[in-house]
Amino acid sequence: MFARRSTQLVRGFATSARAPYHVAVLGAAGGIGQPLSLLLKQNPLVTKLSLYDVRGAPGVAADISHVNTASEVKGFEKDDIKDALTGADVIIIPAGVPRKPGMTRDDLFNTNASIVQTLAEAAATHAPKALIGIISNPVNSTVPIFAETFKAKGVYDPKRIFGVTTLDVVRASRFLGEIKNADPKDIEVTVVGGHSGVTIIPLLSQTPLGKDVKGEEYKKIVHRIQFGGDEVVQAKAGTGSATLSMGYAGARFANSLLRALNGEKGVVEPTFVDSPLFKDQGVSHFSSNVELGPNGVEKIHELGALSAEEEELLKAALPELQKNIKKGVDFVASK
Ligand code: NAD
Ligand code: LMR
Repeated sequence: MFARRSTQLVRGFATSARAPYHVAVLGAAGGIGQPLSLLLKQNPLVTKLSLYDVRGAPGVAADISHVNTASEVKGFEKDDIKDALTGADVIIIPAGVPRKPGMTRDDLFNTNASIVQTLAEAAATHAPKALIGIISNPVNSTVPIFAETFKAKGVYDPKRIFGVTTLDVVRASRFLGEIKNADPKDIEVTVVGGHSGVTIIPLLSQTPLGKDVKGEEYKKIVHRIQFGGDEVVQAKAGTGSATLSMGYAGARFANSLLRALNGEKGVVEPTFVDSPLFKDQGVSHFSSNVELGPNGVEKIHELGALSAEEEELLKAALPELQKNIKKGVDFVASK
């Protein structure tokens, strides 16, 4: 029974034995952390789930631990981060404050930069070889903060640190499915760049159902993909931002890391990584399709052919990305 479910859930890769992967979630008691942890509890590639938060994680862990899958779940809070991280293969980080209406993701920088830096120091000390997915906003700055902190600790491996941009891809597929009256499961849209407003670049021209979207309809869907997060922030009216769809997207990203760790070939996810693609233009990190392997980044894909509209989107994104990345780098340098 268990092996059969594994085969279904772990797409294209039959596994009969339980793989021994330890996943730690930092910020596990939050709006994203809880559904994400619940979904990870259902993942047959996870045998150990460590849930850490400054407060509340033991309660969340006790609750999730009653779900009848084989993995062991433990909660950690306050100063127990060492025990949560030691031996972790994958770390997913949704710790930090979310937006309220009227705020940009960059407005979260002052609070979240310190939170992320503290967690990066802990990860660099207790689990420097883990594959780490960062959800905390602003992703365009928090990923460079993580990278710079690892560099300062002498443990930086650019292949192991990922900004989670999966929600943009999930949204693009859903929104295109809506206008084309098609099942989103059959639609894959590559989204590149970063994770905020104009830095989010959907490559609709590379998708069969997307390439003939033109004019006003094109402008509208691009805007909706770039500002989908604002839609949720508005609808939640001050109580937070996307949590459930992000829990889903974070679980999908974690599953891709685990499938790659488990030896599956050809696992590709768009993600914001230390990337050669636009380094010559001063942009050290960029999201594009990345093939994942047991050591993290296996291959960073080129963007491929862009339409004239996508070239314009890229032109608008690069200076903003450069600014966001520099802000993260400068923050660590100033400490
Ligand atoms: P939330 O406030 O509901 O939860 C955040 C959790 O982080 C809380 O439980 C809090 O106690 C915890 N926390 C704070 N400091 C911590 C620390 N030092 N160590 C461990 N835990 C700590 O917020 P949320 O809605 O879950 O959002 C979390 C973050 O994710 C926000 O920054 C939000 O903007 C971001 N986010 C990113 C994406 C994306 O696509 N990358 C999508 C949605 C939200
Ligand atoms: C999202 O895209 O939903 C997240 O980045 C949260 C936000 O602030 O919009």
